[in-house]
Amino acid sequence: MTTRILSGIRPTGHIHLGNYLGAIRSWVSMLDQVDERLFCIVDQHALTTAEDAKDLRKNTLTIAAAYIASGIDPVKNHIFVQSHVPAHTELAWYFNCITPMGWLSRMTQFKDKAGKNKDQTMTGLFVYPALMAADILIYKATHVPVGEDQKQHVELTRDIAQAFNNYVENNFFPLPEPIIKSETARIMSLRDGLKKMSKSDPSDYSRIHLLDDNETIELKIRKAKTDTDPIPGLVNNLEQRPEAKNLLSLYALFTNSSLAKVIQEFEGKQFSEFKPKLAEATISHLAPIRDAMIKLLADEAMLLQHLKKGADAANTIAKKTIKDVRSALNMV
Ligand code: TRP
Repeated sequence: MTTRILSGIRPTGHIHLGNYLGAIRSWVSMLDQVDERLFCIVDQHALTTAEDAKDLRKNTLTIAAAYIASGIDPVKNHIFVQSHVPAHTELAWYFNCITPMGWLSRMTQFKDKAGKNKDQTMTGLFVYPALMAADILIYKATHVPVGEDQKQHVELTRDIAQAFNNYVENNFFPLPEPIIKSETARIMSLRDGLKKMSKSDPSDYSRIHLLDDNETIELKIRKAKTDTDPIPGLVNNLEQRPEAKNLLSLYALFTNSSLAKVIQEFEGKQFSEFKPKLAEATISHLAPIRDAMIKLLADEAMLLQHLKKGADAANTIAKKTIKDVRSALNMV
């Protein structure tokens, strides 16, 4: 069986360490294990939350630069912008027609974002998961590497694929498998170890941006919340110390180690001693990526050319699928 992965990031706000470690870095680690790889910048999804969509153009190019700078080669992989492939939204419409509102109402991301004020919530936010299903199924992707928070959406994608298959009485779409790497799934806020690192947190000190300079990275780590206890010798003793666990996990990720080994190394030490080491490891990993991003962003014409190449390849696959979909639906 040919394997094909697809994943995407919404171009909203600054791209940060959570996006990098939770998504891009784990994609990079699986590049040579799959036959075909598509990485989308899902700009149409960004429009579902208007406050996030202000700098859409700039943010879209920044994510493209982050993909490439992190090691996703735009020649060997398809890197493209969602809106450059119109078949996504067309397929999403057909999915809207076979997806019960009850399924969409149960999505936790929708419930979180819509809050209590459902009447004022935009329709686009509600039907977002049908568009995400289309992003995946238009390429008949077999695997979808995502963070833990997107698992429910990939499961819904399977349900939508099955509903479509039933409707057309044909095994038209394969059911895609989510790939969730537990060790990288959740990077927490530097201010509150119980909250995910997020672009929507009002405090810049809660996250490290991929474009932060070295001094800023160091400062944010120095100011990161911790407790006054020394570093314990056992992973279990971190359960009640989410901020401590988050920082030690980051160190493990940047040094290709494990939490258990890191704890052994620093057992009994204070965080004041550990933090400069973490800053050093973070900077040595992120600085080359940041510098490559800055270079890529300085040559916009080149970046747009990479995205065009990606969109051309994506359109070739997507057009074929949409043609077959129309004919399965008995359209003239
Ligand atoms: N919903 C995803 C998120 O908020 C982004 C996304 C959109 C996506 N389409 C996708 C992820 C397709 C994987 C595959 O992070």
